[in-house]
Amino acid sequence: MSVLSSPTIKMRKIDGPVGVEIVGVDLSRDLDDDTFRAIDQIYNTNPVVVVREQKLTPAQQVAFSRRFGELEIHVLKQYLLAGHPEILVISNIVDENGKLIGLADGGRVCVWHTDMSYLERPSRGSMLYAIEVPERDGIARGDTQFADTATAYEALSQETKRKLKGLKAIHRMTKGYDATSKSSGERLAYTAEQRKENPERAHPIVRTHPATGRKCIYLNPLCVVGIEGVPDDESEPLLQELYEHCTRPEFVYRHRWRKGDLVMWDNCAAQHLATMDYALPLTRLMHRTTLAGTVPF
Ligand code: SIN
Repeated sequence: MSVLSSPTIKMRKIDGPVGVEIVGVDLSRDLDDDTFRAIDQIYNTNPVVVVREQKLTPAQQVAFSRRFGELEIHVLKQYLLAGHPEILVISNIVDENGKLIGLADGGRVCVWHTDMSYLERPSRGSMLYAIEVPERDGIARGDTQFADTATAYEALSQETKRKLKGLKAIHRMTKGYDATSKSSGERLAYTAEQRKENPERAHPIVRTHPATGRKCIYLNPLCVVGIEGVPDDESEPLLQELYEHCTRPEFVYRHRWRKGDLVMWDNCAAQHLATMDYALPLTRLMHRTTLAGTVPF
């Protein structure tokens, strides 16, 4: 791994085609402006940023996340951390009444997605902090994979790029949840009010990254229900082709979690996928903060 220097902190490439690791920083502290700016710059220019060996209380995670701006409060209110609504609990742990304490399957049983793309201003990025990591035979379970959607865009043929020009995909918050709740009575359901608050939104499929200007494929298999103005029999094969293209191995980094990792990803320049290869009594507990974003263009 090569070590690159920045004025205040260090970063190094990680073992994968996308992402970097920041080393030598303690995110529980009140970071000086230079250090924060260096982290922000790294985050803006890398779809995935890993920071290991952190010890963060919920308040410290929220404080660090807030340095980047406003935070989203997730619509699934039942999984917000008591006293810290900016934190979405992602966990398979159940309480004494047998109720899940968090969202058990971040991303609805392992579907590639980007967070909160159904908003008018979809989330800029998410920060996931590992408190408990399931392990079997000394090997961590519950990896998360990240796909680089900017490099994926650049690798498209000129013909496909032309075809995508001006197209908008329609994002529906409940697509994945509705699909799985039909086959399983235990799936959580969005309330009528939550659905009303979050109507379908159309966003450009080719989205310009607000900080770097790079073009990204902005799709979300978990939420996209079609392409505006394009009949399903034409849009479906195109969407499938793009989903497969985005997640080709050469664009994907697989993160093997360790307790104390904070992983920050960019919701424009990356899609992510959780791995459900563990179950109780193995437990996984993560805290996610979600940064507010801007209108896609
Ligand atoms: C998420 O989709 O936000 C969480 C991913 C994970 O649990 O690995």
